[in-house]
Amino acid sequence: MNATEHAVPMAGVPAAGAPVAGVLDLAAQRVEAETGLAFAGAKRRQFDAALGRMAEALGLPGAPACASWLLAGPWDDARSALCARFLTVGETYFFREPRALDLVCDYALAHLARAEARPLRIWSAGCCTGEEPYSIAMTLRRRVPRLPPADVTILATDLNEAFLDFAREGKYRRWSFRRSDPADLAAFFRPLADGRFEIDPQLREQIRFAGLNLATGAYPSAATGTLAMDVIFCRNVLMYFGPEQVKRVIERLRDCLVDGGWLVVNASEASTQLFAGFTPVYHEDAVFFRKGAPPAPVPSTVAAPAAPVFTPPVAAPAAAQRPHPAQPSAPLIAPVVAAPDSAMARVRALADAGRREEALQCLRRAVEAEASSAPLQQDAALFALEHGDRTLARHCLRRLLYLEPDSAIGHYLAALIEDAAGRRPRARSLLRDCGRLAADADLRGAVQHWLERLS
Ligand SMILES: C[S@@+](CC[C@H](N)C(=O)[O-])C[C@H]1O[C@@H](n2cnc3c(N)ncnc32)[C@H](O)[C@@H]1O
Repeated sequence: MNATEHAVPMAGVPAAGAPVAGVLDLAAQRVEAETGLAFAGAKRRQFDAALGRMAEALGLPGAPACASWLLAGPWDDARSALCARFLTVGETYFFREPRALDLVCDYALAHLARAEARPLRIWSAGCCTGEEPYSIAMTLRRRVPRLPPADVTILATDLNEAFLDFAREGKYRRWSFRRSDPADLAAFFRPLADGRFEIDPQLREQIRFAGLNLATGAYPSAATGTLAMDVIFCRNVLMYFGPEQVKRVIERLRDCLVDGGWLVVNASEASTQLFAGFTPVYHEDAVFFRKGAPPAPVPSTVAAPAAPVFTPPVAAPAAAQRPHPAQPSAPLIAPVVAAPDSAMARVRALADAGRREEALQCLRRAVEAEASSAPLQQDAALFALEHGDRTLARHCLRRLLYLEPDSAIGHYLAALIEDAAGRRPRARSLLRDCGRLAADADLRGAVQHWLERLS
């Protein structure tokens, strides 16, 4: 694509010589308004770097020129495609977070039991290269064979047309099967000479792939086929949007669902405050929101065990208590200092008053309300460990490592849990990652010491 024909300055576009940061800021705002993709705070550098690459693809001299091009004139397919190509994240694989597939099967069985005349309607919103909708189709064929494929419609949409073309072609490399084995899926895939696997054409025909921008597209709407959905998957999409956009998208997705229908998001996206009109149902690795049902009780899957289980390895407390060169009495893993009126401060106040159960209840609420806050998840994991709720701690650490895959502390705490549960190989692997990621010499030392004891 060459942008020079689009690059004519227009009214409202910053003039040449306008401060570069200002132009980039405006472009980031426009991209967020048009695509939902938000690049505030730490993500902003990613945006500036991507603008540089976009400029190259357009044959423009640099990021500011590309920003001006994005700002000039009406938002069109060329701008949308460029943003989709350079700003979206294509991370996906077959059978991701399988508990959501259990939900679809349970729903399908209930649908069959009710002998409903209408087809079951499922939507994968932000389907990427197709692994998610194909996993849904395969799971239903396998586990609910009584449901004829003709009685299920699966809509799969995305902003990125290149991802959709890939999905329609349906040829996947081994990497897409990183949590599954293509050999187990022989009924659905044909191995190709080049090492890829091609999806069964019948399965492909069951899915309708279509472009739909969740930020500005038409839904619910008969025109896009997004009415009366039973289950909507919108996993690992909202996390890239700004808070206002997330709220609007959730409201509109809710309007696309039948009463009692389900919205599935990733656990780290599931701040319950955003899901008005839904009942959350919690699992350790996922949260499902049911439209219109009465409020659910606190999830049993994150209930506290009876006794504290925080038994760090012998090496860790010693290292933890070793004086830190810069902060003489700093512990190895210091809780984030909570503002006096913050949820963590309330949790600690309850614990200090000897009200452990209430503290953990309060913590569970905070963990869901601030699902996308990495510091909160880290602090909550530490607190949960200290107060004997290993399940809650794991829940928080999963989120922390999702939000910050390079968190050394997250790896360290996860290793503690794995070790306490007797899963030593997993603990070792987490510790090795922690050692690689840790900038802090004390933490690296503690990891080394602990690894030696585990070997
Ligand atoms: C990380 S992938 C998630 C794929 C899949 N849902 C999963 O969980 O495995 C995020 C997808 O969201 C899509 N996306 C981002 N912004 C979007 C928008 N405004 N409208 C529709 N899709 C969008 C991206 O193109 C990308 O395919």
